[in-house]
Amino acid sequence: MVLTRENARERDAADPLAPLRERFAMPRMAQGGRCIYLCGHSLGLMPLAARQRLAEALEDWERLGVLGHEGARPPWINYHEALAAPTAELLGCRTDEVVVMNSLTVNLQLMLASFYRPAGARRRILIEASAFPSDRYAVRSHLQWHGCDPREDLLELAPRAGEELIREEDLEATLERCGEQIALVLWPGVQYLTGQAFDLARIGRAAHAAGALVGFDLAHSAGNMPFPLRASPADFAVWCGYKYLNAGPGAIGGCFIHRRHFGEERPRLVGWWGHDPATRFDMPHDFRAAAGAAGYQLSNQSVLAAAPLAASLALFQEAGVQRLRDKSVALSAFFEQLGAQRTPQVRVITPREHGARGAQLSLRVSPDPARARRVFDWVRAHGVVCDWRAPDVIRVAAAPLYNGFVDVFDFVECLEAALRAT
Ligand SMILES: Cc1ncc(COP(=O)(O)O)c(C=O)c1O
Repeated sequence: MVLTRENARERDAADPLAPLRERFAMPRMAQGGRCIYLCGHSLGLMPLAARQRLAEALEDWERLGVLGHEGARPPWINYHEALAAPTAELLGCRTDEVVVMNSLTVNLQLMLASFYRPAGARRRILIEASAFPSDRYAVRSHLQWHGCDPREDLLELAPRAGEELIREEDLEATLERCGEQIALVLWPGVQYLTGQAFDLARIGRAAHAAGALVGFDLAHSAGNMPFPLRASPADFAVWCGYKYLNAGPGAIGGCFIHRRHFGEERPRLVGWWGHDPATRFDMPHDFRAAAGAAGYQLSNQSVLAAAPLAASLALFQEAGVQRLRDKSVALSAFFEQLGAQRTPQVRVITPREHGARGAQLSLRVSPDPARARRVFDWVRAHGVVCDWRAPDVIRVAAAPLYNGFVDVFDFVECLEAALRAT
């Protein structure tokens, strides 16, 4: 069956989540025209309620000054604690395993400080060869911090020659082959360039079987793909708040620490906000960690940074994680079906299986990166907000909280026109 815009409209009309789109600010083109926003994998849209939450925080500050720590709506002193529960629900873990704080790379640095403990021959860190640069820099900095040699001790796994995606069995084979040298595996939930979603339970089991710890970078998973961290072998995970979590540019991120590590004597970098809240303001000389992941906080938290996240998490709760995921799967399937009909020259490099991808689809247009870039520039000039990642990938994501089937249809139509025009 040839898919039409009418089909897309019908699907949107039948979608119980479609009204949520009205709760987000939809950007317009510079000339005021409609834009097709497919960039939630980079920066999620602004929930309209974010303005209200921020305004409340500013008013409370204006009205109460320091007394807002106790008297604001809600009190600033434990503003962040209220964000842990909905975040834990999204990530499928216990509330005390989550702390909302800092940004991703800062949290990764903190987690590496605690969980990367090279000892004897076991000192290597395993990452994927196309890891996001910040992750690579962070990991290299810890190797150097411990006097290791990144050229030797950073182990990178690439796809097989001629392939674009990493096979989990290759990761297992690497861990079997040199597992006794590996102290830590750091792996993404969803790969930023290809959109490949990994079987994190399998990766975590393989890491533990080899005697290594395992941490996940969930930058592209949090708010995108439900993943039950509770049942996973993950020792820690980190994420950012500005992509699928819609908490604004440079937004507050978070950390997960598995409860099996609570109460350990593991070294950590500490600050007063991680101190047991029962005695924090007694100003004791000796640090005693707050229970759970909260004990990894350093500084008193930014309420202004957290307010938009509170607005967004409320929308996730309203929509329901599974319903969002079901819609996301349907949007990607619609894209693929439509693309096969109208833009067969465009190759989706993200895996086809639903379990191996989230909302993001990564597109390669032709063997010629210069043409791919022209196609990208053309669709951008015609109202599509998506992004380009070197060397030749166009990334698009239909975020189920605010995107619909008509967005997907209009994008594919625009892509088809771009292919004709370039
Ligand atoms: C996979 C991944 N890791 C790390 C980062 C760095 O995040 P931050 O700037 O919040 O530290 C990003 C940013 O986009 C990312 O996509």
